[in-house]
Amino acid sequence: MPTASTPSITLRGDSVALGPLHPGLLPLIARWENDPLTVELGGASFTPRPRECVDADWQPLIAGERPGWHGFAIYLLPDFRPIGHANIRDVGTEHRTAEFGITIGDAAMRGRGHGTEATRLLLRHAFTTLGVHNIWLDTISANPAAIAAYRRAGFREIARVRSARRFAGDPVDMVLMECLAPEWLAENP
Ligand SMILES: CC(C)(COP(=O)(O)OP(=O)(O)OC[C@H]1O[C@@H](n2cnc3c(N)ncnc32)[C@H](O)[C@@H]1OP(=O)(O)O)[C@@H](O)C(=O)NCCC(=O)NCCS
Repeated sequence: MPTASTPSITLRGDSVALGPLHPGLLPLIARWENDPLTVELGGASFTPRPRECVDADWQPLIAGERPGWHGFAIYLLPDFRPIGHANIRDVGTEHRTAEFGITIGDAAMRGRGHGTEATRLLLRHAFTTLGVHNIWLDTISANPAAIAAYRRAGFREIARVRSARRFAGDPVDMVLMECLAPEWLAENP
């Protein structure tokens, strides 16, 4: 039963629900962005970032000021605890492509199927609500959990750009994956 403190929800699955990002999540997002492993698994180099910098990056996104950027908070059910965020970005091009990104920021909540379920919810949203035809992502070869979750949700690997990223100081491949609307909808009616 929703209460006044239940966040707005756009997409609901069995274990997670997704709703709009809001400024109240910024302290958590700043905590996740200051966790070196989370940042490096995301394919970026880690630099400590004060709250002001994180806020400056995220506030325009939360306010809907970046065209084609659809971001969501990921809440754990049944208590609506925020555990991560995800986005579908660069939506609205004439080619009907988009890029996908996701972070389960709460490390204790990884490996429990939540990333796979959130990805599935967002694929359906991208294809049936946003009119996306092809959605793609990049990850790193040192992130087998991400590759497994994306594959199980419906992405397939299409290429590797060799030694194009660094993880723990070593070169690793960038892994490109894609998912096509007609194929995914045929398999997930
Ligand atoms: C990537 C991420 C979103 C995946 O979400 P998740 O909730 O952890 O993933 P799931 O539990 O749904 O699925 C993980 C899969 O990886 C598998 N896995 C976990 N660790 C693994 C490892 N070391 N090697 C191979 N497979 C692994 C799990 O068994 C599971 O696959 P299965 O369901 O087929 O058994 C999440 O782990 C995360 O945010 N990580 C940190 C930041 C990050 O990597 N962001 C994404 C950058 S592209």
